Amino acid sequence: MSFYWCFLLCACLGVACVACVCVWSSQWRGGFAWDTSARQFNWHPVLMVSGLVVLYGYGAVLYRVPLTWGGDKRPWKLAHAGLMLLALLLSIVGLCAVFQVHSAKQIPALYSIHSWVGICTVALFAMQWVVGFGGFLLPCSPVSLRVVLKPLHVWLGASILTLSIAACISGINENLIFNLKGTVNGTQPYSSLPPEAVFANSLGVLIVVFGLVVLRILSNRNWERPEPGIQDAVYRVVTAEAVRCCGSTHGRVHPRTGPPMDLGWAHPPIIGPASDAQPATASNDDRSVPRGQERLVAEMAWDDPQVPRVPVSP
Ligand code: HEM
Repeated sequence: MSFYWCFLLCACLGVACVACVCVWSSQWRGGFAWDTSARQFNWHPVLMVSGLVVLYGYGAVLYRVPLTWGGDKRPWKLAHAGLMLLALLLSIVGLCAVFQVHSAKQIPALYSIHSWVGICTVALFAMQWVVGFGGFLLPCSPVSLRVVLKPLHVWLGASILTLSIAACISGINENLIFNLKGTVNGTQPYSSLPPEAVFANSLGVLIVVFGLVVLRILSNRNWERPEPGIQDAVYRVVTAEAVRCCGSTHGRVHPRTGPPMDLGWAHPPIIGPASDAQPATASNDDRSVPRGQERLVAEMAWDDPQVPRVPVSP
């Protein structure tokens, strides 16, 4: 499947998830209010699904959209951080909704596995946002820190999405068990699969499919944002970090585009990794970047606004 079909599917599934959770809360659960009643609770699923699943998923796949690849990456970094911040704020308001209802009705807080998974997910997400902001957006953060952070950020990002889907599934299930009690409150029992249960179960399936599509997009290496390659041959990037990590540039290859190059660099550019066949230079022994991470250093440095980019005459 091409990227755009997958992306379109992801966009449509996200809209469908938000629409379905709104319909469930308004058609079967009495609509919305902010008055510590059950109607205030209804904001909880809506805001959690919209924030921690759909907006989060959209924010995660943003860099994969080829439209975002040209030119400066900074506006897209800001868009990514902004979408994630909005997702975080929505989920915090969603938590406030349920915590207030619980405290007004003197229901114990954080007793269920749903609430444990949920609160850990939001806490991890908040931590991920703060560390990501500090590490990738603050101009003072060093390239070596970004190198260490990036794989962790990507792994934790996918994990948070997985956890939030687990929280949604358990929350939907719990809500149906609480509300569809059969004779007790005049509803049909959950076990008889009334229309509300079919609808809410289907919402759960939609959320899972949305998550799988997002993870599929994230895991396809061919859809990663390509870093500027040597085929552009327009810029060279110079940092002390790269000089330390790569040493002499002679015979090295560019992180993405590979082949050895001889572009007449005036100074050692950021390029790596050194091939195994290459003898280590003295400066390679003095590396502050772990062996094997050179390519990542080069890619991160390319994104670093502090790194000077000097046009090279063709
Ligand atoms: C990522 C999504 C979600 C997260 C992080 C999350 C988190 C939480 C947390 C932390 C609580 C505990 C509140 C307290 O103890 O006072 C809670 C309660 C609850 N949530 Fe969610 N929730 C999510 C999605 C959902 C969804 C989609 C539903 C579906 C209706 C739902 C249904 C409930 C119910 C019924 C409760 C009250 C019972 C309990 O505390 O377990 N949640 N949620």
